[in-house]
Amino acid sequence: MAPIKAALLGFGTVGQGVYESLKTHKEQLKSVLGSDIVIEAVLVKDGTKKRDIDENVRVTTDFEEILRIPDLQVVFEAIVGEEPGFTYLKKAIEKGCHVITANKVMFARHGKTLLNQASEAGVSVGFEATTAGGTPIIRSISQLLQVNNILSIEAILNGTSNYILSNMREKGLAFEDALKTAQKLGYAEADPVNDVEGFDAFYKLIILSELSFGYAPDWERVDRSGITHVAQNHIEVFKEWGYRIKHLAQIHHDSGELLASVKPVLLDAEHSLYGIEGVQNAVMIETSLAGKVTLQGAGAGKLPTASAMVEDLTYVFQSSRNNVFNKSCDVTHREDDEAKQSNKKQYAVIGPKPLTVNYVASNAIQVLRQEEKDGQFYSLITCWKEAADTLLIEANTQIYDVASSKEVHNREKEIKQVINL
Ligand SMILES: NC(=O)c1ccc[n+]([C@@H]2O[C@H](COP(=O)([O-])OP(=O)(O)OC[C@H]3O[C@@H](n4cnc5c(N)ncnc54)[C@H](OP(=O)(O)O)[C@@H]3O)[C@@H](O)[C@H]2O)c1
Repeated sequence: MAPIKAALLGFGTVGQGVYESLKTHKEQLKSVLGSDIVIEAVLVKDGTKKRDIDENVRVTTDFEEILRIPDLQVVFEAIVGEEPGFTYLKKAIEKGCHVITANKVMFARHGKTLLNQASEAGVSVGFEATTAGGTPIIRSISQLLQVNNILSIEAILNGTSNYILSNMREKGLAFEDALKTAQKLGYAEADPVNDVEGFDAFYKLIILSELSFGYAPDWERVDRSGITHVAQNHIEVFKEWGYRIKHLAQIHHDSGELLASVKPVLLDAEHSLYGIEGVQNAVMIETSLAGKVTLQGAGAGKLPTASAMVEDLTYVFQSSRNNVFNKSCDVTHREDDEAKQSNKKQYAVIGPKPLTVNYVASNAIQVLRQEEKDGQFYSLITCWKEAADTLLIEANTQIYDVASSKEVHNREKEIKQVINL
């Protein structure tokens, strides 16, 4: 059979990984696809850089040259930013090519449009590499969604933040020092904002939401924060209490509304994501039939990300070309009482004063434990979200959600102190 002609947009970390993997796994690919796959051209921004690319492969800075390749069947996209990636992939689909992307910022914003366009054009879009790198979460969710409903997702989606938090806890480092170590080891960019402020995890959560629920929450309403305010003292106190701080992306339906957040959360030892350390990513999906399913793996890096893109090749050539974002996904609402019960949660509050009756308007806030360290008061409380929000009005107060594996009503048996007005 004639070889499959492909083009590669971007020759950075991921692009080079794809180029190498196609060579090192040539035989495996041929046995699955039935043909060789040949990179005809590589698009880059800077045409003057020296690259380790075979002489017979065209290197260009002009995307129109890519479009002019006769019988081009697949375009791999591994460039940065919403544009020009979106425009390039739109044009590639118009030309009748399958497209495979690693670009999460672009796909979070334009994934639905590209999938609709591809569906009409009779081609496929692979986007496994946009979320959790080499961990096959996109395909697993697509597979689970054939019959199951997805109830909720909890995930560690940014390896840089997870590495920094693990290192702060294990080595007692301050945030800035753990960040410097991550940068030295190549786990963090020179400009780390995208990772440590939670934007990277946010884009991935949006993609997971579109896939799992058929739509995404309003971006402005997602409670997003990073890990820059996590102090060593917080980690120490919560470690003594049996918790680890993890940067958690969460999404679930509550009374008909899609609620999403990306922020540092306390996890107890029974939580499935408690043991996810270093640069690892993990995603826990709660489903209507299969129960809780957790996947763990490398969230980024040259070969894990290339792996996701190369595996997507088999998907785009074999799939029935359905738009996976349009799957009818019956949103399962928990019973009202159950939903309300699940609304009552634990929080850890840190502030300059102990929690007293002045802080609460009723007995809605129950304090499980409280201690003082270096002039700050740490309290573990149970309450409705609205009550927790009122605490944030106080100056210099910080709140962490606690994602406990135990139900709150079981926890309530452990209440040591109840504040009554
Ligand atoms: N790195 C990872 O582990 C990872 C994991 C998952 C997803 N991703 C996503 O994969 C994509 C690529 O990441 P990366 O780490 O490989 O980035 P990178 O190392 O910075 O490489 C980016 C490549 O894109 C090219 N490029 C940038 N703007 C371009 C433009 N306007 N036109 C043509 N080419 C352009 C650059 O060309 P020059 O070489 O000429 O500068 C470079 O080759 C990003 O969207 C990223 O979010 C990365």
